[in-house]
Parts: sequence; C-alpha cells; structure tokens
Amino acid sequence: QSTAASSRRHKIVVCKDLGPAMPLLTQRPDIEVVNWTEERRCDRAWLLQNISGASGLVVCFQDIIDRELVDAAGPNLRVVSTISVGYEHIALDVMAERKIQVGYTPDILTDAVADSAVMLALMATRAAGQSYTFVKNNQWPSFNWTPFAFCGPQLSTTSFSPTRTVGFLGFGRIAHAVLARLAAFGITHCIYSPRPEAAPQTERDAHLQTKHNLTEVAPVDLPALAARSDVLFILAPGGPATHHLIDAAFLRQMKPSSVLVNNGRGSVVDSIALAQALKEGWIWGAGLDVVDEEAIPGGVTAEHPLVCEPRCVVLPHIGSAAQETREEMARLTARNVIAGVLGEELPVALDY
Ligand code: DGY
Repeated sequence: QSTAASSRRHKIVVCKDLGPAMPLLTQRPDIEVVNWTEERRCDRAWLLQNISGASGLVVCFQDIIDRELVDAAGPNLRVVSTISVGYEHIALDVMAERKIQVGYTPDILTDAVADSAVMLALMATRAAGQSYTFVKNNQWPSFNWTPFAFCGPQLSTTSFSPTRTVGFLGFGRIAHAVLARLAAFGITHCIYSPRPEAAPQTERDAHLQTKHNLTEVAPVDLPALAARSDVLFILAPGGPATHHLIDAAFLRQMKPSSVLVNNGRGSVVDSIALAQALKEGWIWGAGLDVVDEEAIPGGVTAEHPLVCEPRCVVLPHIGSAAQETREEMARLTARNVIAGVLGEELPVALDY
C-alpha cells in the first residue's frame, strides 16, 4: 500500500483482543490495527514503542494510561476506549488537558456482575470453596457425614431466622441489581455507605424499600455498615478515595457470622487485614473477584494469604465474564474507538 494511502488510515493500538468484535476494526480500510497478540497482559514497553502516531487506543483496566503514554502517542491520539466500567487506570486530568475522549462500557455488564456477586455470597456463606476442594482432593470416600460439617450462615431468611441485613459499600447500578436478586432470598434490611459528597437519596431509598418489600433501605456510617451487615458487598471504585477503606479496624467491627464479597476493586480491601480477620474468626468468610495484589503481574499466586484461607473463595476478576455480556462489551469498545478516531460522538463516552 502506498504511503499516501497509509497516511489516511487511523492507527488504533489494541492491548486486548476483542474476539468476535475484532473484525469491526480489522475489516475497515480506513483503520490500521496494531494489536498485542500474546496471552499475557499487554507489556508496557511494547505499548510505549507501538503507540507513536496512534489515533485510538483500546485498553482494559490493567493498562495504565498516564502522561508518559499519552506523550509517547503524540498529538494524533483522540480516543481511549476501555473494555470496563471502571476507569481508575486512566489519568482523566491528562485526557482533559489533551482533549482525548474516553469510551467505556457501563450498564451492559451490570447483570453479569450482580449475578457473580450473588454467586460469591452463596459460595462464601455455604463453604463452597472448602467442600469443592474436599471432593477434588478425593476426601469424600472417607467422609463421615455429620449434621454440622461444611455448615455456614444462611443467606436467605426463614421462619426461624427472619431477618437478614445486606450492606453495600458502593450503592450504584450494580448494587441495585444485587439487591433486586437478594429480595428473592427474603432479605429484610439494606444499608449502604453513601459517598461523602452525595446528596441524600431519601426518595430513591423509599422506592427501593417498597419495590423489594424491605423493612429498611438506609444510608449509614462506616462503623454501622461494618457492625450490622450479614453480607457486605464491596462495589466501590478503586483509587485514592477508597484505598484500604476495609482495613483491620473496619473488619474487627464486623459480626463473626458475616461474609464480605468484593466485586469492586481489590485496592479497597487490605488483603493482610482480611486474611487475619478470616484466620482469627472476626468474620465468617469472604468471596473475592478482585484482590489488591492483582495489580502486580503475577501477584496473586497459590501462596497468597487470601488464597490460602479455607473460607475465602478467590476468583480471577471474572465478574462480567458472561459470554453474551463480554461480546457486547467488546462490540461497544470497538464502536467507541471507531467513533473516536473519526471525530464522531462516542456511543458511550465517559463524562469527565
Ligand atoms: C470493569 O468493567 O471495570 C471490570 O472490573 C472488568 O469487567
């Protein structure tokens, strides 16, 4: 192809293969795709080398988009499209300074993440990790069934245990979808910690309370969130404002029968404190889709203190990994980057 022709093409660097959505990019004559093809996470050095002259960039939450990278890209960069609802990995001040649009994928993953949060709550309460490992280790043949083996706290209410309180750190779209699912379990109370700057949401809370037939939907402070929650869902974004908000002091205030579920960001929970809480029985169990150390490549090994805790179920950040959802996220990510390089309005732009 001639130099003139190639100069008319928009270069898009793709850090994550978008699977069935890749042809949306690769089959366009006006787009040149440079993509990272290895299985492991995109190498920063590779990205810095290849970004020069790019108009668009496709990333995920693992790729740090900062000033150094934007400088390496040069003045053509018009859009960063992330296949995630989270955007803590993107330096928004730099984006604003350089007038770079940011595309992301909210809403479409809400149900998939809510499903996985409920799954983790059930797994953590009902000792699914321990009992599954037991069978995989061939211990069932010698198992003497007893009434209280593998027992854990019950998520649903019953006539003999009629109240259940769920707590939320982060009470946005995904939390509401979790609450809707848990209403079917007979949950009675819903408490949440509002963002410090947020206006009271009295009407919304009254609406949720009526809709789900609950006794209470109410904002509380952090000590009350810790002390009252039977299951605490962490669905808050990462970043400095939430870093290690769940620390030893918080965990010590939780009930010994309580369970912590994290589908938000690993950085919100101090892993060492949580491992101690599990070991010493401050709380009953944990279900984690995210772990602080996952930010370090290779950081969550089989020796990680939380992976070693028998009552901790750890999954490798797969909350939105439902096939239909991921395909839709991939398509939206591709459509966002295409619109961005063409100078059009993004289908779903981050308003920052
Ligand atoms: C997100 O979207 O931010 C998730 O963490 C990855 O699906």
